[in-house]
Amino acid sequence: MKRVAVLASGRGSNLGALAAAQASFSSYRVAWVGANIESAGVLTVAAQAGIDATCIPSRGLARADHESLILKAVAATSIDILCLAGYMRVLSPDFISQFQRPILNIHPSLLPAFPGMHAQKQAIDAGVRWSGATVHFVDQGLDTGPILLQEPVPVHPDDTEEELSARILNIEHRIYAQAVDLVARGAFRVVGRTVHLL
Ligand code: GRF
Repeated sequence: MKRVAVLASGRGSNLGALAAAQASFSSYRVAWVGANIESAGVLTVAAQAGIDATCIPSRGLARADHESLILKAVAATSIDILCLAGYMRVLSPDFISQFQRPILNIHPSLLPAFPGMHAQKQAIDAGVRWSGATVHFVDQGLDTGPILLQEPVPVHPDDTEEELSARILNIEHRIYAQAVDLVARGAFRVVGRTVHLL
């Protein structure tokens, strides 16, 4: 059973989905949640799910100092896999090289299209027919790491950002748990930029 940590800044629906799915996969358990914003809904979601959670506020701290607090917290809880779920900070190359275990992220588009903020609005503004959700390994770029799972979602001509986001979020919740299960079972190999599922 692999121990998963989740870092988040917002409402925490992906944390809720990961926690809800862990019983059916039984390959991982969400053991710790870190938020960088005190008012983040993710802390309530963690409390409701009975998951150990801490807020490590990032405001006013240099990135290196904030990251070293996170690394300490994660080391203290023996984490095997780190999941970013709406974590609004880019991890530094130092953090990634020091962590030395898989780091995953969920993104609300079919990467490499529409990286960064407001991916759903970017898709609507671009007039694409399809967008979707992507789970990828985190590397030193912004939403650039090797892709584990993706699933397309139709974009309707009259979609609002909220409507498209809700449609994508349903998919996010399912594929993030599937991806964490794959990584927890070691059922993948990364060759260059390609993730082979075993
Ligand atoms: C999700 O859309 C995720 O793809 C993006 O941030 C959002 C987080 O939502 N990275 P939640 O906090 O998990 O509900």
